[in-house]
Amino acid sequence: MAEVDRVIAQRLDSGVPLVGEVARYIISAGGKRLRPVLLLLSCGALGYAGVQKYNLAAVVEFIHTATLLHDDVVDESTLRRGRPTANESFGNPASVLVGDFLYSRAFQMMMDANSMRVMQILADATNVIAEGEVLQLMNMHDASLDEEGYLRVIRSKTAKLFEASARLGAVLAESPSAIEIACADYGQALGTAFQVIDDVLDYDGNSTEMGKNLGDDLREGKATLPLILAMQRGNAAQRQTVREAIETGNVDRLSEIVSIVRETGALEATRNAAANEAQRAIDAAMQLPDNAYRQAMVVLASQLLNRRT
Ligand code: IPE
Ligand code: IPE
Ligand code: MG
Ligand code: MG
Repeated sequence: MAEVDRVIAQRLDSGVPLVGEVARYIISAGGKRLRPVLLLLSCGALGYAGVQKYNLAAVVEFIHTATLLHDDVVDESTLRRGRPTANESFGNPASVLVGDFLYSRAFQMMMDANSMRVMQILADATNVIAEGEVLQLMNMHDASLDEEGYLRVIRSKTAKLFEASARLGAVLAESPSAIEIACADYGQALGTAFQVIDDVLDYDGNSTEMGKNLGDDLREGKATLPLILAMQRGNAAQRQTVREAIETGNVDRLSEIVSIVRETGALEATRNAAANEAQRAIDAAMQLPDNAYRQAMVVLASQLLNRRT
């Protein structure tokens, strides 16, 4: 991971000072670097030890960072990684344009791998993420969104990059296709569980720990799984309160919504849905060779449910 951070720092260079300033602002704030971790773990599990793993790990983190820069503009978010968002500090235009810089720098870097298969996986992932964000935009304020519609969004906007990251380890290692598919399944299931928990934390988390504001999803009228399940489980009055909150994006009644999500058991049911996805990730990981890296992949999936950041 230290080597990945070195590559990241080196590749942020630009002759245009504002590019480096905005990019370093968000990247130096930290973040969990989970997508690079997945890529390195799958490389380790499958025995790839070449230098491309550092380069591609930096690539997936750049793509992730670009999505965050754009996402915080779209979501009008003001806090990320414990700091004011880049849009808050530098404005929307700088955030959008530096996001574009990071996307395109990622594509320059992936040329280094000299592999059409790598290009294909990353081009597809980037495209699907964008589709997921647009799909979510279309679903805003739609209280009739069901679990299937919700899953479609999160598989695209979040799980796809996890999937690509884990899959790339198998591609670099030139593993048989069954192993590549197991890695992809692991990443997809883990990424899905990760976003489901993220959506729980928007109601049940701690802003200081998360470095993000709570209630952002509701303010945007996002029908995430806690709300979808609360509407299924609640009585008529509770259902109506949640429906109105989604339709209006009014956060004045946030504490009431949090109570409903708790009392109906929706929060617990959402955590259970994440647990099922995490188990699916573990099952997929068990198809990989038995070694310390695979064990770390299993541990990552089994502890994901407890994440608070
Ligand atoms: C944030 O991702 C966006 C989501 C997919 C929920 P992370 O929680 O991985 O963000 P950082 O990189 O650790 O800040
Ligand atoms: C995650 O979506 C952003 C992407 C995967 C592009 P969210 O909007 O739910 O994530 P946060 O809460 O801003 O990190
Ligand atoms: Mg957001
Ligand atoms: Mg968003």
